[in-house]
Order: sequence, then structure tokens, then C-alpha cells
Amino acid sequence: MSDTAETLENLLKEDRRFEPPADLASNANLTAEAYDAAEKDREAFWAEQAERLTWDTKWDRVLDWDNAPFAKWFTGGKLNAAYNCVDRHVEAGKGDKVAIHWVGEPEGDTRDLTYADLQREVSKAANALTELGVETGDRVAIYMPMIPEAIVAMLACARIGAPHTVVFGGFSADALASRLDDCQAKVVITSDGGYRRGSASALKPAVDEARTKTDVVRKVLVVRRTGQDVAWDDDVDVWWHDVVDSASEEHTPEAFDAEHPLYVMYTSGTTGKPKGILHTTGGYLVGCSYTHWGVFDLKPDTDVYWCSADIGWVTGHSYIVYGPLANGVTQVLYEGTPDTPERGRWWQIIEKYGVTIFYTAPTAIRSFMKQGHEIPDRSDMSSLRILGSVGEPINPEAYVWYRHVIGGDRTPVVDTWWQTETGSIMISPLPGVTHGKPGSAMKAIPGITTDVVDDEGNSVPNGSGGYLVVTSPWPSMLRTIWGDDDRYVDTYWSRFKKQGYYFAGDGAKKDSDGDVWVLGRVDDVMNVSGHRLSTTEIESALVSHPKVAEAAVVGAKDEDTGQAVCAFVILREEAGDGGPEIVQELRQHVRKEIGPIATPRQIMIVPELPKTRSGKIMRRLLRDVAEHREVGDVTTLADSSVMELISEGIDKGA
Ligand code: WT7
Repeated sequence: MSDTAETLENLLKEDRRFEPPADLASNANLTAEAYDAAEKDREAFWAEQAERLTWDTKWDRVLDWDNAPFAKWFTGGKLNAAYNCVDRHVEAGKGDKVAIHWVGEPEGDTRDLTYADLQREVSKAANALTELGVETGDRVAIYMPMIPEAIVAMLACARIGAPHTVVFGGFSADALASRLDDCQAKVVITSDGGYRRGSASALKPAVDEARTKTDVVRKVLVVRRTGQDVAWDDDVDVWWHDVVDSASEEHTPEAFDAEHPLYVMYTSGTTGKPKGILHTTGGYLVGCSYTHWGVFDLKPDTDVYWCSADIGWVTGHSYIVYGPLANGVTQVLYEGTPDTPERGRWWQIIEKYGVTIFYTAPTAIRSFMKQGHEIPDRSDMSSLRILGSVGEPINPEAYVWYRHVIGGDRTPVVDTWWQTETGSIMISPLPGVTHGKPGSAMKAIPGITTDVVDDEGNSVPNGSGGYLVVTSPWPSMLRTIWGDDDRYVDTYWSRFKKQGYYFAGDGAKKDSDGDVWVLGRVDDVMNVSGHRLSTTEIESALVSHPKVAEAAVVGAKDEDTGQAVCAFVILREEAGDGGPEIVQELRQHVRKEIGPIATPRQIMIVPELPKTRSGKIMRRLLRDVAEHREVGDVTTLADSSVMELISEGIDKGA
């Protein structure tokens, strides 16, 4: 904690301030009055936001919180999410407007899809899914690269009321299998592969392997993207171009209940088993559409928007698919890595398409910062007017660099705090209202109420730290954890049960103005490059290796990735010293079990782990070792000499 406090002191000394540009402020979508309006009557405020969607049947109640913490929003209302994201724009005469400027990784490999194109593709895919036996309520998994078909697939599912679960393409076959199993996905939509770092990277083999671990899947729908060879099972595998291309372009969207499940997104919690976060239709779409319009000050007729996230994460769901498309924007979708074929690729894309709003993650900004300003300076990025950041705290230096080098000192930077669970942005500056403070996400946006509280749930005074909570329900909140209502109540609503607050799992501090500085997780969840990883999940992966007896994982500070995975491993006696390749072998094992993002930066083979008398591993001490600090207070250890043993062992090994 002392270390965090120190970082914080440094952060709070940060006194640069950036006023909103005058022209933006005078013409802003969300103004200061919105805070007052929302405060006066929160439900009326949300009802007004809900009017940005097209409802088949209007709701009769804005919020039903009778069975808290199980929320229902816009009860009695009916709508179709895909209709809202696609058809209604075509009906409004915007069929020829480009919805997606798609940029494949190989140079010159591009496609533009208009809203009319999207309507045709989504309708065909919806018909094909129905043909494959998918019914309303069935779960469909999507395991795909960043190609237009991924978005088409999501919208086709939404259109027929089949909740999708998108699994990030970087996850392993094992991780995929456990997700398929947990939500009992009947169909998987995938592709032969996608382009990453200059070459074709396969995806279908992981689906094939996942199918050997679970038998829930009936059909696998495969898009041909790279043309690489794939194994084929005639009973199960179906080519997209065989069944979708030939399907009818006519499809009438059915209106579903506002609370109809839209999707399940798996995210790491504090136990080994990922949580399936459930989002439903009406409230979620209201949250995405409202925040995308308000926080990015979207002017749909002139803006060109680009969010660099992968659709396999919630950011891709809310700010590539549902928010932007509900708002009828033109956006860029890029398949590959930022440095392929060269390090200026992103900036060239911004120049080429005249991107005006750009949303990315601090980890990416830090890696560009390292490469210097010369590379971005080669591209004309004067079209940019707003920059966004999400995924982890943005350090003031990265914020200022982003604003200066990428935004030419014109663009506000909106540092947006939210989570898979919150569905949409919760805390953020408003670009036309708030003066930017590098490093602070500032305060809850209109309609959202948050606080920082102590252990008892009391609001802390300005200048103090505590736990970040949301103090009233909001439309895009998660509804439960798929198949596990108890875990939902337990994880988010039991800590501050008396007050009825949502516990976000983040620590935060209020500065002297009452603005929020998010400090990071207070639970056993790590944040590596803006991706959530559970320490326990990686520990279980390590322990599943035959040579491992025990493992403890901590997130250690890392200049590039924010946090990095550091593992301490006790080998089984019969494994001896594990052999010269043991560390490599274990890193490979974690990659295979979970995926490349979970690969430990460092694995230390140790004779013991520091435990309290009740057997709890003291990760705080291991973090000291991993971050090369003097080891803190060891008096609560069952055996206080353990830390010496560990340090000695590591010194010898190094
Ligand atoms: C966790 C949620 C939200 C989409 C991407 C990640 C951290 C997120 C910020 C921010 C400080 C942030 C928190 C949060 N986080 N945005 N602007 N400042 N921290 O979604 O995987 O559900 O992770 O990311 O720790 O709890 P996620």
C-alpha cells in the first residue's frame, strides 16, 4: 500500500490542465446542464436517452429494482438490436453511407461496407443461422479475427435473439472449450485464420481441438479469410460462403423484450473460473448509444470514428459494434497489429480515412511513445478532434504525449473508466465541458453516480482513497453471471450490502477537487495491457503441469504493459530441479492453457511460498520481490524465514 500511496502522491502533483477547445464547448452534445438534469430525475433522464433508439413497443416502466440486485430496465419495451444498428439507418435514407471502412493487415486489402451492405449481409447470415438450427435463446460462440464478418455474425445473432459469446481469437483451445461448455454454445462461427504480424495465423484448429474437449457444439460455420488449409468434418463444419452467400437477403427482425439476453462476455474474476457477464438488450443499447454520443461528442454526419480494440473484448462490443452502429457512424475497422508492415501503420490509416475520433489503450500509447514522435509525425493527423483512452489508468506522461504528438495539442483526451460488467462508460471527462487533468478519469458522467468509500461503505473525504463503487443502478449494468446468480450477488453486491452499492473491485482516490483517480484492482485480478487476468486462473494452469507442486502469481509493475505476470513456482520433489528448460516449459504450458496474453514475464522456481498461519499466500511480499523492492513486513507469516529462502534462491538462480 505504501508504494501505491507514493505513486499517488506523484500523480496528484500533476497540475497540467487542458481547457476544452472553444468551438467544441460551444457546440457540445453533452453540456454541464446534463449533470443537473440527471440528478434531478435520473429515471426521466434515462428515459430520454432511451428515445435515441427505435422501439417496437415502448416500455411502461424505466427501472424495476424491486428484486435488487437483479435489475430490469425499460420493462415491457420491445426492440431489435440489429434493426437499431442497421435497418433503421437504411430506412432513414442512409443506406449508401459507409458503415465500415475495413482495413485488412496485408496492404491494399480493404473493403468498404455501407449500411445497405450491412443490412443485406446481416439478413443473409441471420437466415443461414436459422437454417443451421439456431433458435431464439440458443447461444452462439464467435471466435474470429477482425474482419467484417465478425460484426455481421454478432448482429445476425442479435437479430434472431440468439445471445452471442465472442471469444478473443488469442485465447487457446482450452479457454475456448471451457467457455463453450459454460454457456452451452450450439454453434461456433470462426474463420480459417486471420492476418497478424505479417502472416496468416490459424483459428479453426483451435475450434477443432476445443470440440475434442466438449461435445456441446453442433455446427461450426467457417469464413474463408486466409485460404490456409483446414481440417474438415463434414457432419459439423460448414463454409460461410456456401450457406450465407446463398441465403435470402430478406429477413424481418423480430422485436424482443428489453431484457432479452444479448450476449455473454467472459472475463476473469478472483477464482480460476471465468465469469460469463450477461448483458441484455434495451438498457445495454441505451448505455452504449448514449455514451458513444456524449463522451465522444459524436457528430454522426461528419465524424469518422476508430476504436482500435478487438471485438473479442467488451470495448469492441460496446464501442465498435453496438454504440457506433446504433448511432449510424462511419468507422474504421483494422484487422492487424499496429506495426505491420511498419510502425506507422495506425497513423497512416488515420490520415487515409480522415479519422476524427480515436479510441485506444494506454499500453498502446506507451509503446508508441517509446518509438518516438518521428513516426507519427510523418502522417497528417489534423483530422483528429477527440482522443479516448480505456483499459487501465493512463499515466500523465502518456496522456500528455498522446494529446501532443497524436492530437497536435488540439484534442481533448477522454480517459474513460468502465468494465465488462458496467457495459458502457461510467467515469469520464466530457470533452466540451471538463478541463482535462492528465491521469484522472474525473467524475461520473450524467446519469451515473459513483463514490469512493472506506471499508464500512462511508464516502471518503476529498484527498483520501478507498474503494470505487457505483451507488445507483444504471441501464447497461450486467444482469447476472451466466448460470450463477449467487456469484453475481456475492462478487458485486455483498461487500457494501447495507448501502446497496455496486463494488467494482478497483481502488481509487478523490483529489482535492473531488475528481477520481482510479488506482487499479484491489482483488486478485491483474491488468496486463488493459486485459483482465486472474492470478488464480494462471496459478491453476501452472499447477496442472505435472512438474509443479504449488504456484503463486502476482502482477508486477511493468513499463510497457502496466502490469506483468510474475509466477513463483514450487516444483514437485520427483521433478528434481525441473531441468534446464523448466521455465520455458512452464511459460509454454500457460500459453497453451490460457493463451499468449497470460504468458508469465517471469517464472521463479522457489523452495517455499510465504503463507499466513491460516495458509493464505501473502502476495504482497511476492510483489515486493517481483518489483525488486525491500521485502515488507513479514511478521504475520507462519514461518518468517521463508522470504530469505526465496530471495536467496532467486539470487542464486539469476
Ligand atoms: C478494469 C475493467 C473497460 C473496457 C476495457 C477493460 C481497469 C478500465 C480504466 C481507466 C483506470 C481502468 C479497471 C477496471 N480500467 N478503464 N480509464 N482507468 N483503470 O474492461 O477487462 O472488464 O477491465 O480495467 O481496473 O476494473 P475489463
